[in-house]
Amino acid sequence: MEKYHAAQFDELIRAALQVRLQAYAPYSRYQVGAAILTERLKIYSGCNVEAADYDGTHAEESALAAMVAAGERAPRLLVVVGALEGALPSLDAPNFTGPCGKCRQKLMEFSSLCGYDLDILEGIREPGVYKLRQLSELLPASFGPANIGVDLKKYRG
Ligand code: THU
Ligand code: ZN
Repeated sequence: MEKYHAAQFDELIRAALQVRLQAYAPYSRYQVGAAILTERLKIYSGCNVEAADYDGTHAEESALAAMVAAGERAPRLLVVVGALEGALPSLDAPNFTGPCGKCRQKLMEFSSLCGYDLDILEGIREPGVYKLRQLSELLPASFGPANIGVDLKKYRG
């Protein structure tokens, strides 16, 4: 049985595209939207928020923060879309973006916590046909709670 329905992919991509429009990126002008589908089948999204100190928040961090603030800690599927200001990515050409190294580490925190290997929606073969990649592929041999003897069991929620 398939893990996800095509409609779930479309809904998640739409959420990422929508929230990207709220990105605040006057410095890089690269606008990013991220959307997370959780274990409870809710969608949380976030955009990048830059600041003059050049230490802004990435879209994936915003989406994770929204998820945690809503009381969820088990992300299953992530979509990230990014494009320069003025570009208008769409469902047919979403311009999937890989999470950066810092975000991979933050996402891995929740894989460690919840036990799911996060799926990440990737490049289109043809419009509407997607490919899934796992976070463990993007961040192999990762550093996590076990390395420092921390047991996250009671934090799973
Ligand atoms: N950015 C993200 O939001 N997520 C990533 O994982 C890659 C980079 C943002 C940070 C910055 O605001 C802009 O994209 C250009 O790097
Ligand atoms: Zn990042």
